[in-house]
Amino acid sequence: MSSEISLAWREPISDDEMADLVRSHGGIAPDDWWATIRPHSLGWVSARDDAGLLVGFVNVAWDGRDHAFLLDTKTRGSRQRRGIGVAVVRFAADQARAAGCEWLHVDFEPPLRKLLPRCLRLPPDRRRPHPSAAMDHADALGRHPVPPVGICPL
Ligand SMILES: CC(C)(COP(=O)(O)OP(=O)(O)OC[C@H]1O[C@@H](n2cnc3c(N)ncnc32)[C@H](O)[C@@H]1OP(=O)(O)O)[C@@H](O)C(=O)NCCC(=O)NCCS
Repeated sequence: MSSEISLAWREPISDDEMADLVRSHGGIAPDDWWATIRPHSLGWVSARDDAGLLVGFVNVAWDGRDHAFLLDTKTRGSRQRRGIGVAVVRFAADQARAAGCEWLHVDFEPPLRKLLPRCLRLPPDRRRPHPSAAMDHADALGRHPVPPVGICPL
């Protein structure tokens, strides 16, 4: 990751910043998306460039004890494939561990399938593709396969 990107844990992010980040990669962001999600979060990682622009994000929800859940990894569309995703996930795992969590639950959606093994200690059986991983496309009825999930020790 380039050196001018800084990472922070639980740093305030406005709804407008979050909507701009989501739209930058072609996502759909209701105006109050982040305000609705935030109360259920253990914490979140923000990545900003040297001008303060939000370029990366990941949310960590939790069960209130030792299980954390990695959600909504996002990198600004113009800054992808430069290591920001790996950096925010590693930072999130460090923070969840520091908060006392012992397990991190993750989704192996297609964009994250190669990213997550660079950041986390995946159990051996999760290093192999799940059978449904081959089904990247919707079926004739428009249904998407449920993405395989994993749980990693922190
Ligand atoms: C998925 C996402 C967060 C990756 O962020 P990123 O900053 O580009 O990721 P990195 O640069 O750290 O990528 C690390 C590795 O992950 C893999 N990877 C990253 N993006 C990928 C993609 N779109 N498809 C397949 N593999 C991908 C690659 O192996 C990559 O290494 P490489 O660039 O050396 O080939 C980003 O593409 C994104 O925000 N996508 C839109 C939102 C999304 O789908 N989020 C995931 C589900 S919530």
